[in-house]
Amino acid sequence: MDQFKQGMRQLAGAVTVVTAGKHDDIAGLTATAVCSLTADPPRLLACLNMNGVTFELLRRHGRFCVNVIGEDDLRVAEAFAGMGHVPPTGKFGVGEWEMAEDRAPRLRSALVAFECKVHSVTMLSTHGLAIGDVTAVHVAPHCGPLLYHDGQFAGLAGLLPA
Ligand SMILES: Cc1cc2nc3c(=O)[nH]c(=O)nc-3n(C[C@H](O)[C@H](O)[C@H](O)COP(=O)(O)O)c2cc1C
Repeated sequence: MDQFKQGMRQLAGAVTVVTAGKHDDIAGLTATAVCSLTADPPRLLACLNMNGVTFELLRRHGRFCVNVIGEDDLRVAEAFAGMGHVPPTGKFGVGEWEMAEDRAPRLRSALVAFECKVHSVTMLSTHGLAIGDVTAVHVAPHCGPLLYHDGQFAGLAGLLPA
């Protein structure tokens, strides 16, 4: 429904890159459909298109990482959305990524990265709703968050007076 899509454009979202896989079997995509579920236990929800490689790897390896993107990493968000320049080495050639034996790739410059173990996945029409148990949190805020609103990437223009 066009009106639904038009309406959702007004919902400003924090931009993340969700990654999955390990070694050289890795994938990631830009996602705004991510939110906190419960604090006790720490659990979050990420909604990923089922046709993508990221979702397939998330299911296969049972782990994923939600990297919250800062406004200085616009090109990372663009690359993982299939919009910007992607080097011949692939999407992970944009930004500095920490690879590990048993975990999904983590963006070193993320404002925060949530490492997750898949708790459950619910398939709903085109998307997989992945609930993740958070196993590690790396908090490193150094700039404002990257947002997406009305079809455009944006930063926080400024906080409102208290
Ligand atoms: C701002 C923004 C937010 C997005 N949010 C999501 C999302 O929450 N879930 C999703 O599956 N795709 C989302 N996408 C689309 C994917 O990033 C895009 O389809 C990407 O190219 C998929 O990568 P793949 O083709 O390697 O699987 C979003 C795209 C943009 C630009």
